[in-house]
Amino acid sequence: MRPFVLLLTGLLALPAVADAQDIALPPAVRQRLAAQATSLAPRLVETRRDIHRHPELGFRETRTAALIAERLRSLGFDEVRERVGVTGVVAVLKGGRPGKVVAIRADMDALPIPELIDVPYKSTVPNVKHACGHDGHVSIGLGVAEVLASMRAEIPGTVVFLFQPAEEGDPDGGLSGAQRMLDAGVFAGPVPTAVFGLHVLPTLQVGTLGVNVGAAMASSNRFTITITGKKTHAAYPHTGIDPVPVAAQVVSVLQTIPSRMNNAAEPIVVSVGTINGGNRFNIIADSVTLTGTVRTLSKDGPARVRAWMERAVKGVTDASGATYTFDWPTSGNPVTFNEETLAAASLPVLADVVGGRANILSPPPQMGAEDFALYQQKMPGLFFFLGVGNTARNITAMIHTEYFDMDEAALPIGVRALSSVALDYLYRK
Ligand code: NI
Repeated sequence: MRPFVLLLTGLLALPAVADAQDIALPPAVRQRLAAQATSLAPRLVETRRDIHRHPELGFRETRTAALIAERLRSLGFDEVRERVGVTGVVAVLKGGRPGKVVAIRADMDALPIPELIDVPYKSTVPNVKHACGHDGHVSIGLGVAEVLASMRAEIPGTVVFLFQPAEEGDPDGGLSGAQRMLDAGVFAGPVPTAVFGLHVLPTLQVGTLGVNVGAAMASSNRFTITITGKKTHAAYPHTGIDPVPVAAQVVSVLQTIPSRMNNAAEPIVVSVGTINGGNRFNIIADSVTLTGTVRTLSKDGPARVRAWMERAVKGVTDASGATYTFDWPTSGNPVTFNEETLAAASLPVLADVVGGRANILSPPPQMGAEDFALYQQKMPGLFFFLGVGNTARNITAMIHTEYFDMDEAALPIGVRALSSVALDYLYRK
């Protein structure tokens, strides 16, 4: 029955007939959200371009945060807290009817990447660019705030907005924005029972959304391995212990973790990003340092890979008489995991936003990581992808590149999707 209904839906281009019964949000509210998001479109573009012209690196988003706080205050938010987790902004919108508490998160930081696209809203800061689309996320977050503020009397519950710094990590090597906001008591006010967020994705065409039930993005852990040998003259290596060939063997053995030790059905990545050691061509180095990253898609993946790595490093260094240190900070990101019940319950209203299930794609989980996962350690959360690519307009460059841009027609879709999914959660029993 269901496939038949879906087929008819596709043929007649009706919005998600099969899903309508599963949407808690009343049709009149959905129509209003759609109309408001459409009328906001020029303002969303203007806000996104303003922030795009003035990108700020992690924990330095002072202009962006001030713009956000001012806008939220002008919308009549009950509580706007600034400098939460260095530069974060937290704001609370209490609806006119009792109900649950839901959080919406948007990240604010840019990247140390030069802007190479020639557009009127080009970055004015040398070598800093909103190359991950967080300018769009802020614009969408403010759009959601505006739409929901206009209907607050009818909202059954409370919405907490989290404008988060430093999603890309601390440029100075410390904890990322989500952790710093959590440490700063981001949920000191009303405590949400679900959190929603989105990320623009140029590999998805504008008009589509990407939703994963379960793992959406990988865990990420940084590691540092230092192998210490014994320095000597390079003509007499037998009088020392050379850490360079030991490091070479360690790099090789680490490659066997994904390929030989791990179950091939569970994707993992072990990448060595830097290797440094020695100071002259004719001196055996005293030590070599390797740094890298590990990505997994399972909750127990990081611990498993860590144990394999340490065993491999210990075995190789023991065999050569060298010593090692293995540093694995606990501050990595867990898997961005969309809890199944919440994800499944959210799909019908998201399908309604984009005109049917055909426009909801389920891309393979990303091996990139997100500190949104840290909020999901506290409560169920849904992190979904907003299509911003447009091959016909040649908007195809990947995030984190000098040429990244987005089709701004996606901005009102993002506002509609995020406000609909949060309100649908509040309306749901
Ligand atoms: Ni990003």
